[in-house]
Amino acid sequence: MREITKRLLLIQIMACILSLAGMIFLVARTNSITSAYSGDTEKNIIIEENIERIRSDIYFMEYILSSYALSDDESVKNSARENIEDLDIRIREAINSLGESVESPKEKEMIHSAAKNYFGFYSKLRIVFDLGKKGAGEVSDIYIREELMPYVEGCNADLEELSGRVEASTRAARLDFSNDIADLGFMQILTIVMVLLSCIIGISAVAGGGRKIVDTHEKEEAEHAERLLGIQEHIIVSLANLIESRDTDTGEHVMRTSEYVRRIADKLMEENMFPELTEEVRDRFIKAAPLHDVGKIKIPDQILNKPGKYESWEYDIMKGHAAYGGQIIYDIMGEVEEPEYLEVAHDVAMYHHERWDGKGYPEGKRGEEIPLCARVMAVADVFDALVSRRCYKEAFPLDRAFNIIEECSGTQFDPRVAGAFLSIRNDIENYLADSDLKIEN
Ligand SMILES: [Fe+2]
Repeated sequence: MREITKRLLLIQIMACILSLAGMIFLVARTNSITSAYSGDTEKNIIIEENIERIRSDIYFMEYILSSYALSDDESVKNSARENIEDLDIRIREAINSLGESVESPKEKEMIHSAAKNYFGFYSKLRIVFDLGKKGAGEVSDIYIREELMPYVEGCNADLEELSGRVEASTRAARLDFSNDIADLGFMQILTIVMVLLSCIIGISAVAGGGRKIVDTHEKEEAEHAERLLGIQEHIIVSLANLIESRDTDTGEHVMRTSEYVRRIADKLMEENMFPELTEEVRDRFIKAAPLHDVGKIKIPDQILNKPGKYESWEYDIMKGHAAYGGQIIYDIMGEVEEPEYLEVAHDVAMYHHERWDGKGYPEGKRGEEIPLCARVMAVADVFDALVSRRCYKEAFPLDRAFNIIEECSGTQFDPRVAGAFLSIRNDIENYLADSDLKIEN
């Protein structure tokens, strides 16, 4: 898992570096292409503007010149001369600007030719003015058409050719721009793939990390709950052993009665005699069994350990352990245990000496008034007391103990519970054979 994470991290770093390099290259290359295209286009626009200005100004100059030649009004003639001089200044500026804008010798040659034609045209204007002064309007008009127009046409032809070359240059620049941008396509796709790869790995890592944190947290919580449960069960069994050790040789009674409860409950579940007896309920029975005699903690040693038969008043005190037990469960466990378990533990401690025929204690409950957990506990508790040695009696042989359970079925014990216990006799005997209890058959 750690090796995979390292590999993913390495791939992500490489994808990040490649996508970053790709983006830097794309930005730089795009700027370079755009800048080159803008420079070419801008220069060509300036050339076109100057060409257009020269052509329109010469055309306008021709028009003014014709007016000059054909007019007898002196003020019109003067105004025409001033306008022509202004147009000449503009045309010369435009020609100079053209010369600075082009670089190729061919284009410089065209501009030079156009300028030569224009200067030839302009140099002959004086003749037109002189003819105008002498009133030879018609002659000057002819002179304009025959002597000046060839210069104008030559200039226009030069400018036309130059304009054609500029248009071709603009088209070529546009084509280069498109090709250069198209060439970047592969790099763009590669960069996008790297960015996506980097994002996917990043998101996966974050999601994986988050899931891992949640899993770890859940695992730790489960382990913690399991540890607490273990500690709790250990405390319950230890407490029960401590109490039992006051009137029995060891705490084995606690363990054995719990095992009988487990086996009886399993049998009842197998036979489906009590639908309410689920696995969860059975587990509560087993966990509650060790505390069935917790009330004995309030019974004095001289009564608890008295050898031989109890006096009537002594028996009454001894019987009190059931009610004490029920109360103690609520007092010491009421705040820390789940309510369902608490109820089972209380019922087991309180009612495990009740009898099916109603002659038990402390409340004289009968039949199904007695909680099922207490009816199961009753069989387990009596059977283990029969087969164990106590201060007031020796251990009974197994046959006799099983016979007593059978004889008391329907009077002391719930017949279904007693029947289930008797039906697993072999299992019980095998369990006892493996335990430390010395049993006679
Ligand atoms: Fe008891």
